[in-house]
Amino acid sequence: MRGASVSERRRVTVALGERSYPIEIGAGTLRDAGGAIAERTGASRVVVVTEPAIGRRHGPALLRGMKAAGLSVARIEVPRGETHKSLRQASRIYEALLRAGADRSTAIVALGGGKVGDLAGFVAATWLRGVPFVQVPTTLLAMVDSSIGGKVAVNLPQGKNLAGAFHQPRLVWIDARTLETLAARERAAGMAEIVKAAAILDADFFARLERDAGRALALEMDALLPVIARACAIKADVVARDERETGLRMLLNFGHTVGHAIEALQRYRGILHGEAVAIGMVWAGRRSEELGLAPGGTAARLRDLLARCALPAAPPVFERRAYLAALRVDKKRTDARIRYVVLRGIGKADTVPLTPEQILPAAAFREAVRPGRRGGGRE
Ligand SMILES: NC(=O)c1ccc[n+]([C@@H]2O[C@H](COP(=O)([O-])OP(=O)(O)OC[C@H]3O[C@@H](n4cnc5c(N)ncnc54)[C@H](O)[C@@H]3O)[C@@H](O)[C@H]2O)c1
Ligand SMILES: [Zn+2]
Repeated sequence: MRGASVSERRRVTVALGERSYPIEIGAGTLRDAGGAIAERTGASRVVVVTEPAIGRRHGPALLRGMKAAGLSVARIEVPRGETHKSLRQASRIYEALLRAGADRSTAIVALGGGKVGDLAGFVAATWLRGVPFVQVPTTLLAMVDSSIGGKVAVNLPQGKNLAGAFHQPRLVWIDARTLETLAARERAAGMAEIVKAAAILDADFFARLERDAGRALALEMDALLPVIARACAIKADVVARDERETGLRMLLNFGHTVGHAIEALQRYRGILHGEAVAIGMVWAGRRSEELGLAPGGTAARLRDLLARCALPAAPPVFERRAYLAALRVDKKRTDARIRYVVLRGIGKADTVPLTPEQILPAAAFREAVRPGRRGGGRE
């Protein structure tokens, strides 16, 4: 797998007027990021935020390129795990910035998954009221989803992403070869968000995934790079048309209403976000057909593609009561109704106001969630 880089590079632009920025997609390109980082940020100094294992594997190529581009570089590591997307770790980074003598012309670079990106971005948004920020995502989820759009946040003990901001990066630099060290299960979870993007907005892309998702997950670059580029383009387009998440961006919640409920019921353990979203999408596809909104066969195509990505489909076993309670705290609700994202067909999404009871009707729920049956979550 190692060796010559696939020379072809792709660029997707996030069009936000003066704050527009490129997403540069390639394979084996980590060492070339330095020049682009210097150019896009105008910084002479950068602080790289990463995790120990990611820094060890992917830091050297990135840092070498940054130094060759004339940047002075400091690096700070935060421990792995979602619990460290915290104010405590943000404080540690502020202190490191102080020690490094960081000023307004210092850029912050996130090298890692969505956890690192959200945390480093939160610091970049708040340090001296905002400094240039660059995303170098190393998970599939971060490449196609969390690194695009400028949402940055830390978790509080009371809930996820409660303290945050909008702070767009100056550049997103994707080297798909960094995925070679990522666990297959994490790669599949990222693919769930790609399937989501296709299912809600792009039927042609969905058909391409039906053909290529397996090879993309096996990191065959001729299949993977176009898939990443298309998924980035969809997210970039949604962000450009709805930066502050008022309308269109709501559609990106497809699969997430039930998905979030599942994550909460499992206390965020034993299941990855993308896996919960996959289960939520299968459910939403099914409900879309049952409500007469999507033509027959829509849910089956969605289920089959997700299964081919080794993603789960069956909701984990909890009482319906518990599911309904979890749905009621979903922050996307208005009054008693939730703006539930449904499909009108593959590539076409819409929202309908539904109560939790309408999202999970008793009969359908009984049929799908049978005690004794293995749940969607895996240990
Ligand atoms: N800002 C947004 O718009 C947005 C959108 C979706 C998700 N998120 C956030 O993103 C986070 C989830 O992101 P994630 O799925 O990337 O999780 P993550 O950053 O925790 O990474 C998942 C795991 O993979 C490891 N890892 C990362 N890159 C690796 C690599 N190249 N090789 C080996 N191991 C590697 C990490 O150490 C971690 O254990 C959550 O905090 C979520 O809230 C934000
Ligand atoms: Zn998601």
